[in-house]
Amino acid sequence: MAEPEIRAGQSIELLKALHILTRDGKMNQDSRRKLKQVYHLFQFIEPLLRQLADDGQSFTLVDHGAGKSYLGFILYDLFFKDCASAPVIHGIETRAELVERTRALAGQLGFSRMQFHHLSVADSMASDQLPATVDIVTALHACDTATDDAISFALQKQARFIVLVPCCQAEVAATLRRLKAQSLSRDVITEIWRHPIHTREFGSHLTNVLRCLQLEAHGYQVNVTELVGWEHSMKNELIVATRKEGPRLKAAQRLREVLTAVGLQEMASRFWLPADKEAEVVGSENLARQVAGGDGSILP
Ligand SMILES: C[S@@+](CC[C@H](N)C(=O)[O-])C[C@H]1O[C@@H](n2cnc3c(N)ncnc32)[C@H](O)[C@@H]1O
Repeated sequence: MAEPEIRAGQSIELLKALHILTRDGKMNQDSRRKLKQVYHLFQFIEPLLRQLADDGQSFTLVDHGAGKSYLGFILYDLFFKDCASAPVIHGIETRAELVERTRALAGQLGFSRMQFHHLSVADSMASDQLPATVDIVTALHACDTATDDAISFALQKQARFIVLVPCCQAEVAATLRRLKAQSLSRDVITEIWRHPIHTREFGSHLTNVLRCLQLEAHGYQVNVTELVGWEHSMKNELIVATRKEGPRLKAAQRLREVLTAVGLQEMASRFWLPADKEAEVVGSENLARQVAGGDGSILP
């Protein structure tokens, strides 16, 4: 990959503060990797921001698991700073010291439309520090199930766009592991995750498959792509979801079918469906059960 370059108008002070530039204005190996990742991600996010900006109204981006808020600061510097409609970025982070640091840095740089909240993703849903609806939600390597909470947040806040680079999610793999013995005796498909390393990898892959189906069930168009080359990061799956139409039954059914196929029905609430589609799926599952059971009232 080519060397990343500092762009015209970019804040040198910010790049130094993020350790992307050394104190004497140079780059080091680690920061170069981070800058490449952020620029690469910006390429995917910029067209979405442009669509929101083209509406001519202010808009809101919420970044979950913000950490040092590399992403938020870079987005603000490259796009939000000069955007006429004065859009706002909110960073959500559980580590108080990082929230303090990012607040201080935003103040120092005069990035007045950046706000940082000491909240978990789950708690941010009910927080009055955040607006009732938001336009775009990002979650970059938000740990474990924080990505799932970010999806729930985005769905609840009717976000137009959702951009996720998931971290390793342990919950699905842990459930597969716990149920493995009974699943092995029942179903040959369990061979896919019988070995511990496969349980972890398949669990991680399956998690993202279920997340995509959940987003589609809620009416989003989903694109899954690679964020950066393998040499930079193992966690490189980028999921971009765009709200299109109303909830979709087919995706809702598929999600439930996948959960059933791998014996994870108990995880249905993690990958929750829109209420009306949930009811329809449950109705069709009951019908299928009755038919399979030979209930005479269903078959002619
Ligand atoms: C791996 S870091 C990623 C930081 C940043 N998004 C990035 O890519 O540079 C994950 C961050 O998410 C925060 N985090 C983890 N679980 C969270 C949760 N449930 N709610 C809010 N923040 C969370 C952690 O404290 C950590 O700062």
